[in-house]
Amino acid sequence: MTSTKFLPADYTQNLSSTSFSYASPSNIALIKYWGKQGIQIPKNPSISFTLDTCRTTTTLHFEKRDNYKEDFEVKVILDGKHKPGFEAKIHQFFSRILQYMPFVKEYKFIVETTNSFPHSSGIASSASGFSAIALCLMEMEREMQPGLTDTYFTQKASFIARLGSGSGCRSLEGPLVVWGEHSEIEGSSDIYGVSYPYEVHENFKDFQDAILLVDQGEKQVSSTVGHNLMHNHPYAESRFNQAHENLAKLIPILKNGDLDSFIHIVESEALTLHAMMLTSSPYFILMKPNTLKIIEEIWEYRRETGIPLCFTLDAGANVHVLFPKNYKNEVQDFIKSSLSEYCQNNRYIFDSVGTGAIKL
Ligand code: DP6
Repeated sequence: MTSTKFLPADYTQNLSSTSFSYASPSNIALIKYWGKQGIQIPKNPSISFTLDTCRTTTTLHFEKRDNYKEDFEVKVILDGKHKPGFEAKIHQFFSRILQYMPFVKEYKFIVETTNSFPHSSGIASSASGFSAIALCLMEMEREMQPGLTDTYFTQKASFIARLGSGSGCRSLEGPLVVWGEHSEIEGSSDIYGVSYPYEVHENFKDFQDAILLVDQGEKQVSSTVGHNLMHNHPYAESRFNQAHENLAKLIPILKNGDLDSFIHIVESEALTLHAMMLTSSPYFILMKPNTLKIIEEIWEYRRETGIPLCFTLDAGANVHVLFPKNYKNEVQDFIKSSLSEYCQNNRYIFDSVGTGAIKL
């Protein structure tokens, strides 16, 4: 699969709109993306559940510039406040997408954005944020080049989101999205995410994700630094192979609803991600003591009740607790009564698996 299919044809129409808005969700990986090469090409395939209520809502306002200028013109407004700090990131993103969307030079933009999850909650907003911007930019392209198919629209939006943030390419659709070529997943690609194409058992429909906010501070390791840790990492190659194997194992599990095997793979992936950070140079411990306490409590609760809940982690201390919908009441009670004390300011978010981005 080459990126050339996303080079634009000549734009035939002028834009009549002045803005587009999208609400795009966050996602939580079951098989983790950790390590990339070139421009945002993953070293291994990953799969994630798309979330529902953790979303970024973005309105992209645009206006034609009078003269050609060398640089991009973007202003970022987050929760009503001008955030010049985010603009460098958008400039980098625009320079990456320029050959696929040359019009980004011809307009001045205001990116007006809000997150449904609390600011500084430690939840990464880059996936939801870049997927929302990518979709707004695709709407611009569709007006200038009518007749784009829905498939092309979604694939290119995911391709563009990936150039902002890798995991962002998994946030457009739901409930399960694969990114990265895998021999057993038809249509899978390194350059955009695809909806998981095979049968998914009832057990995994409407899966729940409770996000326990153990550490709401700034990320200790930025994603760029983190992914770079996999270059020359002593265990890199076996980790990348393991991700391929784990994804292959997940296909029959997702079909037959085997929750025990699902738990085994998901927890192992989370711990492996952290093991990669523990064993890289420089090395990092991103879990906090309360992360471990929560994991122990989850294991004890699972042993005692037989309820098939499990945890996963991002590159940080927060814990995602995943469980089937029919245990919602019990698990939410357990979280409130036993796990919330390990969360900073007792904060947690109850979310569930969703179906992807929405045009507003
Ligand atoms: C640990 O997508 O944030 O959450 O491509 O540099 O933006 P960039 O990285 P990012 O990495 C996410 C890593 C992860 C695992 C995952 O979501 O698969």
